[in-house]
Amino acid sequence: MAYWGGGGAGGWSGPGEGMGQRRGAAGRIDGWNYDDLGKVYDAHLIRRMIPFVTPYRWHSIFALISMVIVSLSQYAQPYIMGRAIERIVDRIGAGESVSADIRNFGQLLVLLAVISFIAMYTQRRMTGFIGHRLLREMRGMMFAHLNRLSMRFYDNEEVGRVMSRVTSDVVTLQELLTSGALNVLADFIGLALIIGFLFALDVQLALVSLAVIPPLMLFMWFWQAYAARAFIRTRMAIATVNSNINENVSGVRVVQSMGREAENLRRFDRLNTNNLDSNLYAARLQAAVMPLVEILSSVATLLVLIVIGIRTFNGDIEASAALGFATAFLLYIQRFFNPVRDIVLQYTQLQRAMAGAHRIFELLDTDPEIADAPDAIELTEVRGQVDFNRVDFEYVPGVPVLRQFDLHVRPGETIALVGHTGAGKTSVTALIPRFYDINGGELLIDGVDIRKIKLASLTRNISIVLQEPYLFSGTIADNIRYGRLDATDQDIRVAATAVGADEFIDRLDRGYDTVLHERGQNLSVGQRQLISFARAIVADPRILILDEATANVDTHTEKLIQRALDTMLKGRTSFVIAHRLSTIRSADRIVVMRDGQIAEIGNHEELVAQNGIYADLYRMAFTHLTEQEAATERTEG
Ligand SMILES: Nc1ncnc2c1ncn2[C@@H]1O[C@H](COP(=O)(O)OP(=O)(O)OP(=O)(O)O)[C@@H](O)[C@H]1O
Ligand SMILES: [Mg+2]
Repeated sequence: MAYWGGGGAGGWSGPGEGMGQRRGAAGRIDGWNYDDLGKVYDAHLIRRMIPFVTPYRWHSIFALISMVIVSLSQYAQPYIMGRAIERIVDRIGAGESVSADIRNFGQLLVLLAVISFIAMYTQRRMTGFIGHRLLREMRGMMFAHLNRLSMRFYDNEEVGRVMSRVTSDVVTLQELLTSGALNVLADFIGLALIIGFLFALDVQLALVSLAVIPPLMLFMWFWQAYAARAFIRTRMAIATVNSNINENVSGVRVVQSMGREAENLRRFDRLNTNNLDSNLYAARLQAAVMPLVEILSSVATLLVLIVIGIRTFNGDIEASAALGFATAFLLYIQRFFNPVRDIVLQYTQLQRAMAGAHRIFELLDTDPEIADAPDAIELTEVRGQVDFNRVDFEYVPGVPVLRQFDLHVRPGETIALVGHTGAGKTSVTALIPRFYDINGGELLIDGVDIRKIKLASLTRNISIVLQEPYLFSGTIADNIRYGRLDATDQDIRVAATAVGADEFIDRLDRGYDTVLHERGQNLSVGQRQLISFARAIVADPRILILDEATANVDTHTEKLIQRALDTMLKGRTSFVIAHRLSTIRSADRIVVMRDGQIAEIGNHEELVAQNGIYADLYRMAFTHLTEQEAATERTEG
């Protein structure tokens, strides 16, 4: 909203798309995406917004009444002034005393000012009250919804777009629901009042002063066509600048290590200058409005004065009436252009708010793909038997990822999944916590169809350690406790000790109370992994899924991790996407995957004896390892 810099006297924040704007089929004009602007009035959207405001109906009614009072008291003022002048001049002409009149009118004006003050204060307080509560409510709703949405939603959405809905779209919508709607209403009421007062004063003069409206409308019409385009350009420009800054800050290590500072600055400068240019262009357009309004109001003033002059000259009206008319009309003409201009300018605000509302409801309307079936059951004592019965699975319709995948895992068994990149290992493990639903076959846990199990009881029994551990800001203890809030400090210590993380945690100054930065950046990769292990086992899951990290860690941490793995896997049904030979060898069974199918299955000795894919992989890894060991020896020796 600040993209347009300052605003006119009306407090507007952006020009809008003209009513006569041609819209491309795909909502694009000149390559600019018009997603930013929606229909000004969308009955369906409005209906959706009503429930948000109904809890505040009394506040809204108060705000509305206050607004009408403000308008009335403001727009009655010129009328009263005009009448006052007429009366007073008349009395002076007749040689009567005017002190009583001056006092009466003075009191009336003061009273109006006080009423207007109170009403305006009430209006602002009410809209503030509603607005901030709406924001809190809508954000809370969206946050809850985002956490419920399925993986498929996140596969298809950009983080930035999701974020902007929760941060800026809600603000636009909130403004629409509070001050925006009220302002437009106030403008229309104001306009109607002014026109009413003008005609009440004098029909001919009213028509004369309104004569300048058509040219103003015509100008605004043409102006909007350019302004809308300029407006979109500024929005796009600042969005690009922001995302560029964001990318550079997040990737600053790579930037510096690759020596890209100068090149990146050059690229940024281009975007930054583009932003400047679009804003300057927009400012030029905006600058054209005020002078025009000034000119037109001068013209209207002139016309009114001429007509009054002619009438006085012809003796049609008294001098006192002429003076009164002139005062009232001039004051009205001055005020008249504010609502006119505001309405035109609010047009864009409305469009943007509608577009924002559309995006918000689109998000809230996205149902979590995966939800509890009505007859879903609670799994209390999970043994940990997992059966894939000829499972078919695809992310994208028509592109099978798993085909007739058939695997039967006994409780407590450790399965190592190996295979080339893209073979479908991660996909197999994503089905067990039901991040995605299968497309064919059956997936059973303890003999129960996974779709018949309550999601909460499913996740309670499964822990997942991702390839890239994701730690949250907070202390180490908070992070280990993440999945089981009732874990005691003792539980946390036990878990950390079991995976061998206690050693390095105890060496930290603040131990378990050490505060982690975003994503745990102040720990080493191996340390982050150990913490994510501790986090996984503190929940004591029956089924453990582990995407083993390929990252190289030092030999000491490597040993710790290996020991941790042994502890973690013991007594649990485990699926390990394994890269370490030691993990693979110690698995009960190794599943070799190829193109979403099981190519080979068996333990290490069996598979080596089969002399197939696994044997090849093993030999390659083995020779690779021996070379590495030889190299280490050479450098050390
Ligand atoms: N979210 C997704 N949306 C669409 N396709 C996906 C998605 N995730 C994976 N795929 C596709 O599914 C196939 C299997 O991917 P998967 O991640 O299971 O492989 P992987 O065996 O774990 O590979 P890697 O060893 O590299 O981790 C790949 O062809 C991949 O392109
Ligand atoms: Mg993977």
